[in-house]
Amino acid sequence: MAWIAEDRRRRVAEAGGPYLTDELKKHLTETYIPRYPTKRAVLLPALHEVQHVYGWIPVQAMEEIAQFLELAPAEVIDTATFYEEYWLRPKGAYLIQVCRSLTCEICDSKKLTSHCKRKLGIDLGETTADGRFTLVELECLGACGTAPVALVNDVLHEELTVEKLEKIINDLPTDPQHYKDPQVTWDDGH
Ligand code: FES
Repeated sequence: MAWIAEDRRRRVAEAGGPYLTDELKKHLTETYIPRYPTKRAVLLPALHEVQHVYGWIPVQAMEEIAQFLELAPAEVIDTATFYEEYWLRPKGAYLIQVCRSLTCEICDSKKLTSHCKRKLGIDLGETTADGRFTLVELECLGACGTAPVALVNDVLHEELTVEKLEKIINDLPTDPQHYKDPQVTWDDGH
């Protein structure tokens, strides 16, 4: 298992230290711990906070959360793997999420997904080699009236066609500083 240890060291080095930094611990201690009767109850917010900072939740971060909340690492890993919302591997700077639920499917969402796969050279759940794009499908976004829809990071795009999506992807900033670290998400859409 040496490769796992090596991989963790590399990722922590890239992140510049422990994932659960003193700043994050302070934030969890001041914001969440007073709200709940037990430290254990802070597990979901802690996972969210780590994901918000790094874009995903590495195994080492789960171990650090376990230590901080006085839980067994297995409990943290069980929880993180139970919920689809948590990313357990790095994702691209741009996360393209195409709705696959019924209304969007009727309105040709499959064509959007197929186009993205072809254009980016990746399958669902994969990230391009340069760390720029990750492609996934997700369930109804509650925008069925303007189907088909997709999220590109936090921005909802409606009444999509292949041509519209092509333009949206092509217009995304290509400046390397916007996507050089695939562990980071870009909340401002850039
Ligand atoms: Fe796609 Fe509802 S089915 S937004």
